[in-house]
Amino acid sequence: MLQTMKGAIFDLDGVIVDTAKYHYLAWRSLAQRLGFEFTEAHNERLKGVSRMESLRILLEVGGVTATEEERENMAVTKNDEYVDYISKLEPTEILPGAKEYLLELRERGVKIALGSASKNAAFILARLGISDLFDAVIDGTKVSKAKPDPEVFLAASAALGLAPSDCIVFEDAETGVQAGQAAGCRVVGIGSPAILGAADLVVGGLDELTTQSITKTSN
Ligand code: BG6
Ligand code: MG
Repeated sequence: MLQTMKGAIFDLDGVIVDTAKYHYLAWRSLAQRLGFEFTEAHNERLKGVSRMESLRILLEVGGVTATEEERENMAVTKNDEYVDYISKLEPTEILPGAKEYLLELRERGVKIALGSASKNAAFILARLGISDLFDAVIDGTKVSKAKPDPEVFLAASAALGLAPSDCIVFEDAETGVQAGQAAGCRVVGIGSPAILGAADLVVGGLDELTTQSITKTSN
């Protein structure tokens, strides 16, 4: 399956870099200010979900109601704190094997796109020093329908000039796996088979897909 792909579409948070911990810290601060505890288990529900939908879930967890203006302000406050964290991101925080796999795909002539819900995606790629490894970047500033809607992956395959069936999506969120399949792409889940079992293949990380590790495991 991986040998025949013409395009590779990567989710960002949880696939290329572990920013979920920074999202969590910023959402938890907001919850604390609102007077309730927001746990890591609650945070699982926010993976792959857009900023405003994440806020809706958080307020639901806390049983808090807020006007649209209050919600806008809360989202800005959360994002300001999140941006403080990601402003200190270092290339060393790229997840194991991610950069090596991107470089390997480029060498093989596979086109590469980002398909992320984040509005901070371009900033994060720049901080990590890997912006130039992507032929197209489709992020939360370009699409409006949240995963599991296929919009982000349809836009990414179109930006690469490829049919979705020629592309493989790499995703760590269940909603992301659903979005990739709804777009007509094949999907590699990055994480636990218990959560991502619907994917065509599930691996623990991109480090399991580099030629080096495949050669090592087959020895
Ligand atoms: C996704 C994350 O990639 O981006 C979500 O998995 C996050 O947790 C979403 O809410 C939106 O990110 P941002 O950076 O636009 O707030
Ligand atoms: Mg993700």
